[in-house]
Amino acid sequence: MKRVFSGIKPTGHLTLGNYLGAMRRWSAVDQHEADALFCVVDLHALTVDHDPGRVRRLSRQAATLLLAAGLDPELCTVFVQSHVDEHARLSYLLECVATDGETRRMIQYREKAAAERVRGGSVRLSLLTYPVLMAADILAYGTDEVPVGEDQAQHVELTRDLAVRFNQRYGRTFVVPRTTHPGVAARVMNLQDPTSKMGKSDDVGPGIVYLLDEPEVVRKKIMRAVTDSGRDVVYDPEGRPGVSNLLEILAGCAGGDPAELAGAYATYGSLKKDTAEAVVELLGPVQRRHKELCADSAYVEGVLREGAGKAREMARPTVDAAYRAIGLLPPG
Ligand code: TYM
Repeated sequence: MKRVFSGIKPTGHLTLGNYLGAMRRWSAVDQHEADALFCVVDLHALTVDHDPGRVRRLSRQAATLLLAAGLDPELCTVFVQSHVDEHARLSYLLECVATDGETRRMIQYREKAAAERVRGGSVRLSLLTYPVLMAADILAYGTDEVPVGEDQAQHVELTRDLAVRFNQRYGRTFVVPRTTHPGVAARVMNLQDPTSKMGKSDDVGPGIVYLLDEPEVVRKKIMRAVTDSGRDVVYDPEGRPGVSNLLEILAGCAGGDPAELAGAYATYGSLKKDTAEAVVELLGPVQRRHKELCADSAYVEGVLREGAGKAREMARPTVDAAYRAIGLLPPG
């Protein structure tokens, strides 16, 4: 059975982008078809200015939302990254394989480092090494497939490069993973600025739909989405990013093909209305289940404890093998 690994970073409240780009496929497809692990990657949340209490709260909330979105601990392994030491252990070895140049080329590093400098802040070294830790997350588990949104493709590419390089230098140790993206909504854009990604770490804004937004809030955000200057509804992500984003969201929520759906709408207003209702309908069951799980935090903690135990057992042999292969003396 193939192995699947993916993760989500607790740097903000989870968004519709996270759901359509990644989580939904994890619960609808991956957990049924693969030996799958899903991880709240809390160490990654420390790469930018952070508040310790908020990271803890968001980590708990992300884990609860993963279960609310349908991940079933009977079918897959759900855990928190910092509960399994193997990630950090392997990351250091991979830092000894990665180069300074290739990590500096990562788009997310460049964008986030530039934004940090504009704010007058300093850039944490961990922001630069972040994709190497991500590679460790993936490679520690002998992962075949990494289901992610489009924005993570470059990081998975780096992971592949590091796996190949390590294997060539020190002997075959890692599986070389491949990326999978959903057919639609692999990159959900901000409703107020459809040329940039709907990102959870961005400031709270009317352009971001959060998974826990009340139905009225969802409707308002979508009805106020920025559309394009034309009047007819066409799917053209380059020329009509606003309308195309709504069509992608609608297709992601209710099924269908964005280009075909375009033909069914004469006005932006009716497209927005249907998109809003499709999102509300999609989020309803997740929100209800989230509320139930919040009342049963012992259950969620139990799932995470067990998940970490399973993950540790899965990761340790590969990480130990990497330690031996790279030339470190095994403990007696
Ligand atoms: P993160 O936490 O930013 O996002 C989690 C998942 O959601 C996807 N996603 C989106 N998809 C479509 N449209 C959007 N607007 C959108 N925003 C986010 C992301 O592509 C991702 O799949 N570095 C990763 C976390 C990570 C990871 C890993 C992922 C750490 N280690 C190992 C896979 C494997 C990140 O920051 O995702």
